[in-house]
Amino acid sequence: MPAERIVFSREQIRARVAELGERISRDYRGRPLLVVGVLTGAFIFTADLVRVLDLEEVMVDFVRVASYGDATVSSGRIALGKDVESEVKGRELLLVEDIVDTGRTLAWLTWHFAERGPASLKVCTLLDKRERREIEVPLDYVGFRVEQGFLVGYGLDCAGRYRQRPDLLALD
Ligand code: PRP
Repeated sequence: MPAERIVFSREQIRARVAELGERISRDYRGRPLLVVGVLTGAFIFTADLVRVLDLEEVMVDFVRVASYGDATVSSGRIALGKDVESEVKGRELLLVEDIVDTGRTLAWLTWHFAERGPASLKVCTLLDKRERREIEVPLDYVGFRVEQGFLVGYGLDCAGRYRQRPDLLALD
């Protein structure tokens, strides 16, 4: 078993999610919002984020993408596993990611949704990890900037494990 170290505790995460929620609520005041979480990693962050939004009209949907090839070397090949069921055209869309790493997933998703003509398209990610960034993607709301290391917990996995852990952990 690898050693675990808490990088962001559940209390730190809760406080930061609340701050993000306040900013997003201010920015979208009076406008209906479509929140799209990226499965699987963002399922917990999305659930926590929408519950701190102080907005009248919030719709929640999910998308799943799969990237193929060697997991440690990004192949850049991305395919849709599950699309949203909501109409995107004319909507204010907020994409919610757990982590942006190479940027490939988000670049693909941005293209995927932009061509459907949303009224606006913004991105909220809990973690911005720049170490391996290959494609610059604009991030509108960022929870934490992280450097190197393999993070798990709060939705993030290692071979399917650790997603249920309430804190964000580094595996050493
Ligand atoms: C993770 C994460 C992002 C993507 C970021 O998903 O949730 O979607 O990788 O990496 P990138 O910036 O290099 O494209 P992952 O493929 O691990 O699937 P999961 O969400 O099901 O765990």
